[in-house]
Amino acid sequence: MSTSLDVAIRGGTLVTADRQWRADIGIRDGVIVSLGDHVAPAARELDATGRHVLPGGVDAHTHIDQVSSTGLHTADDFTSASRSAAAGGTTTVLAHVAQHRGQSLRTVTAEYAARAARDVIIDYAFHLIVSDPTPTVLEEELPALIAQGHRSLKLFMTYEKIRLTDAQLLAVMDVARTHGALPIVHAEHHEAIQWLTQRLLADGRTSPRWHAAARPEPVEREAVHRACMLAELVGVPLMVFHVSGMQALDEIRRARARGVTVYAETCPQYLAFTAEDLAHDGFEIAKLMFSPAPRDASAQTALWSALADGTLDVFSSDHAPYRFADVAGKQAFGTDAPFHRIPNGVPGLAVRLPFLISEGVHGGRLTLERAVAVGCEAPARRYGLFPQKGTIALGSDADLAIWDLDREVVCTHALMHDRMDYTPYEGRVLRGWPSMTLSRGEVVYADGTPQGVPGRGRWLRR
Ligand code: URP
Ligand code: ZN
Ligand code: ZN
Repeated sequence: MSTSLDVAIRGGTLVTADRQWRADIGIRDGVIVSLGDHVAPAARELDATGRHVLPGGVDAHTHIDQVSSTGLHTADDFTSASRSAAAGGTTTVLAHVAQHRGQSLRTVTAEYAARAARDVIIDYAFHLIVSDPTPTVLEEELPALIAQGHRSLKLFMTYEKIRLTDAQLLAVMDVARTHGALPIVHAEHHEAIQWLTQRLLADGRTSPRWHAAARPEPVEREAVHRACMLAELVGVPLMVFHVSGMQALDEIRRARARGVTVYAETCPQYLAFTAEDLAHDGFEIAKLMFSPAPRDASAQTALWSALADGTLDVFSSDHAPYRFADVAGKQAFGTDAPFHRIPNGVPGLAVRLPFLISEGVHGGRLTLERAVAVGCEAPARRYGLFPQKGTIALGSDADLAIWDLDREVVCTHALMHDRMDYTPYEGRVLRGWPSMTLSRGEVVYADGTPQGVPGRGRWLRR
């Protein structure tokens, strides 16, 4: 091992979840090896004077190169998703392996892992979607996969083709507890959504504007409550994905108050959009269809407070890219398709941290340290990646982003560097964008251009 530095970053203000301080960073072999006033000369000198250096973001909820519940493939592979992540200061992604019914979880995990290893530029791990918990999956495949380092299991309570019954949820949670994995839920009451959907369709209310009406807050509240109760019975911690408003927050607080270990995330789309944004005729609204659905301004206030007070401790994108003008995307079932057949999900990999800093920090709702906590450190901790990821410390991976916190950016799709054909944030002005992103000391984004060779990213055993 050489003793000189590969990279030095000088003059910046470093930010972690705990503090801000002025220091230079020395990097060798992809790891932070010195922090201080004057680190040694390096082969590559980077100037961060007047700027802030944040840990690379950890986006703990993405759908990359994945077959979804509709059978469609998400638009980004690991190369385009890595580029998009790096463009927004994110250096680690957690994506999903999707088991569909009849498939071996072991086989699909191997297939997803091979594609990711070939294409990825930044570091990554997988949540395993379990949709068919057969005795073989529960007794053989899951214990083996968890032992290999796949330590989070994604369980859907809705979506016909992948949802689990309560008995199945209990069975998978029990395996998670026994073998040391974290169950994660997409929590919505499936049959209530179906009933509301059928009622809307019978009334001729079929266009995308009715999406939110078919998935109101109570369907999320009940499912969050039920998931917490099931985890409580099993005695396993639980993560609740994409919390959308006050009612789900109440259930999380109530579960915690009775001693259940429950973690929760929200995503930028719940803070950027409300149900009012869907209240227009026409297929264009499909661009804003995601589940759970967006709520109202008071829900957004509650979510910001929950991010600040720790009720929510992870901020993820739920990057679920389906192109708009594409028969492999939102138009898979035609532009006259009833709302319940249109693929759910929006892109958000690149915009996640800029949105958090602009609306959260500059908006006066979060400190910069808290933004780093929910965008970088807490997701690394929750998913077994800390302190390798999520912080700036001696011995941590040199996953870093140099930020121009005051730079105003008008969002356009071109800035996102994904394979989508739209961004829901088009035209929004955000304050704060990274000028450079490094993954293990290697520049993967600089001055508007993603860099890095596909295949350089590493799978993170957890
Ligand atoms: O609408 C969403 N969130 N689609 C992506 C799949 C999921 O539910 O996480
Ligand atoms: Zn979900
Ligand atoms: Zn998702």
